[in-house]
Amino acid sequence: MSEIGVFEFQGKRYEFPVEIGSENEIAIDIKKMRSSTGGIITLDPGFKNTGSCKSAITFLDGEKGVLRYRGYALEDLAENAKFLEVAYLVIFGELPTKKELDRFENTIKSYTMLNEEMKDILDGFPKNAHPMGILSSLTGALTAFNPHAVDIHNEEDMYEAICKTMAKIPVIAAWAHSKNLGKPMNYAHNDYDYIENILQMMFMKRNERYTTNKVVAEALDKLLILHIDHEQNCSTSTVRIVGSSHAGLFASISAGVSALWGPLHGGANQAVIEMLEKIIEDGGDVEKYINKAKDKNDPFRLMGFGHRVYKNFDPRALIIKKSADAVLKELDIDDPTLKVAKHLEEVALNDPYFVDRKLFPNVDFYSGIIYRALGIPLEMFTVMFAIGRLPGWIAQWREMRLNGELIGRPRQLYIGKNKRDFKPLEKR
Ligand code: CMC
Repeated sequence: MSEIGVFEFQGKRYEFPVEIGSENEIAIDIKKMRSSTGGIITLDPGFKNTGSCKSAITFLDGEKGVLRYRGYALEDLAENAKFLEVAYLVIFGELPTKKELDRFENTIKSYTMLNEEMKDILDGFPKNAHPMGILSSLTGALTAFNPHAVDIHNEEDMYEAICKTMAKIPVIAAWAHSKNLGKPMNYAHNDYDYIENILQMMFMKRNERYTTNKVVAEALDKLLILHIDHEQNCSTSTVRIVGSSHAGLFASISAGVSALWGPLHGGANQAVIEMLEKIIEDGGDVEKYINKAKDKNDPFRLMGFGHRVYKNFDPRALIIKKSADAVLKELDIDDPTLKVAKHLEEVALNDPYFVDRKLFPNVDFYSGIIYRALGIPLEMFTVMFAIGRLPGWIAQWREMRLNGELIGRPRQLYIGKNKRDFKPLEKR
């Protein structure tokens, strides 16, 4: 017998179908609610209870701290696979064979050049422009240089568009970094792999041969895997909703970059380091900042703590914390922010305010410490998150279009003035 959801209002009973997901998640399908009830809508600010789509990409159980891409545990993928392999899995649904992976990597390599006129646009930015602003703008600008709209039903066309996107965005990211430093813009080189190219484009000096530090490349590879997808988060929902108007892939991703930038989302990794440095400068009094975070009259929040979905632990944070210890040890770096971070975590996890509200360290709490150990400057942290999230955005955009989803257009509960008569200027 199929389940139904029942809603009663003013003595009338309405029945709605129930959908069960492959991990037994239950959703009441209210598609026909407004039309069948004569105009009643649901109100769910922040979409805490609203499923906006059906998706086969990522499974997340916030209560149990589970995160899987296409059915594979994140822990397994981070331990055993490389970034491009996992990117392929997330986008196309299956782990690639060697042949498929080689083709994916080589096609991406064939698209890493940018039109030189992109440099003219970059020139117009002030030197201290935040790289996320540059990334978002130049990703949008790619539409001008690639005006061909992808035919989503043509597999080959879609494949090329995916590879193009995977290829060009890291180049823009590296250029945003070089712009800040007043350095020449480097291009990717086909002798390097995807991760080496990100590092090489950011750090290669024109007067020296570049050699990749293996520890750094492996740590970055893992970090990017952890960020690949996270189902319907703020930036991914943005990408889907922009794409739902049939805007192109670059335009949708540019919007996703802007959504990611905010300190409550991807911008938290930069905000965490700024917070830890402030605590150190202020004499290292961790309790003072814990009390500030608990004080409802103080806008301060413990950055890197809490999550909309995880109410137990963030599995990405566990992997990153371990990795932070290992990377700092291997690179022989003694970073005082790691000590403060660990102290802060310990105090918060034993404080009823954080325990009762189920606030745990999230992915951003330790990622900034690793980025810094890898030599990546503060302003580039959220850009690295964007490079990691790119395959997820692409996968979700493609899925949304292939599923033929409707244009995203929420309703609202109007609480403004009722109808009133216009008053001429002289009578106001
Ligand atoms: N510090 C202090 N109090 C907090 C924090 C925090 N970091 N996070 C939540 N709370 C409190 C909040 O004040 C509220 O308390 P009360 O019930 O007394 O009003 C309660 O916990 C629930 O918070 P909420 O704002 O309703 O939770 P949310 O699901 O809307 O917000 C969040 C989730 C991530 C925006 C929030 O926890 C936060 O602002 N964290 C800091 C920013 C951060 O680290 N963001 C990165 C998220 S993970 C990376 C990503 O995926 O983007």
